[in-house]
Amino acid sequence: MNRLPDAIAAAAHAARPVGVFDSGLGGLTVLQALRARLPQEDFIYFADTAHLPYGDKPEHAIRARSLAIAENLVARGAKAIVIACNTATAAAAESLRDAIKVPVIALEPAVKPAVALSRRGIIAVMATTRTLHSQRFERLVHAYAGDARILAQPCPALAEAIEQEGAEGDTVQALLDRYVHPLALAEVDVVVLGCTHYPWVMQAIRARLPEGVVIVDTGEAVARQVEKRLLQESHLGGGGHFQLATSGDPEAVGQTIRRLCGLMPPVAHWEI
Ligand code: DGL
Repeated sequence: MNRLPDAIAAAAHAARPVGVFDSGLGGLTVLQALRARLPQEDFIYFADTAHLPYGDKPEHAIRARSLAIAENLVARGAKAIVIACNTATAAAAESLRDAIKVPVIALEPAVKPAVALSRRGIIAVMATTRTLHSQRFERLVHAYAGDARILAQPCPALAEAIEQEGAEGDTVQALLDRYVHPLALAEVDVVVLGCTHYPWVMQAIRARLPEGVVIVDTGEAVARQVEKRLLQESHLGGGGHFQLATSGDPEAVGQTIRRLCGLMPPVAHWEI
């Protein structure tokens, strides 16, 4: 009868953090949703800024980065890994699930909810070129689009511009003109944000679309999924803290976070 030590071990495991990563600061939009839904959890967030963008890298390179980061987060005690990046999910979700012993929660463009919301059946998905060219995206469209028309809108350079300039920057605005205006002309009624960087410019996207177009983001759905997995594994618990780290320059990353959301949390540099 080892009930007490078992209970202590389970509580210690539950108190471990959830590891979250992205190519940069897009995944912070997911972290916000996670912290809103699971305020008692601890999170470690890793921004792979030195390797941003993932969106135009070959799949094997993204897979190698994702594996190295997830293994590092697990070595730091992560009880679950959240891939807060559509591009890394498309390239590496299966490999991570094979390689990592803790639950891996991935996200992908919200095509299924978009189809349910669309009245006109014309849906746009804004994402990186890598996500839109992936087999995973092809399978997603095949499984859920039904009669709806899915317009895949690649947005090269947008994630980097958001990190370099913040939501208001001139390059960001010019890129949004280029990527969003065709969607308005195509009379889409739902736009899926298929990259975690894009919620940072949600208002600017909305301003370029006719009234009534619905914009769908995945942050909350992922947070619900993480909660479900932690409940299933009896792993809910922690102290409500979070820690940020980057492979890039922590000071520059701190400034970018301030530009994006007005906060200036401490950021560490980790060699991964
Ligand atoms: N935030 C990432 C995503 O959700 C991609 C940005 C990048 O190209 O690195 O796809």
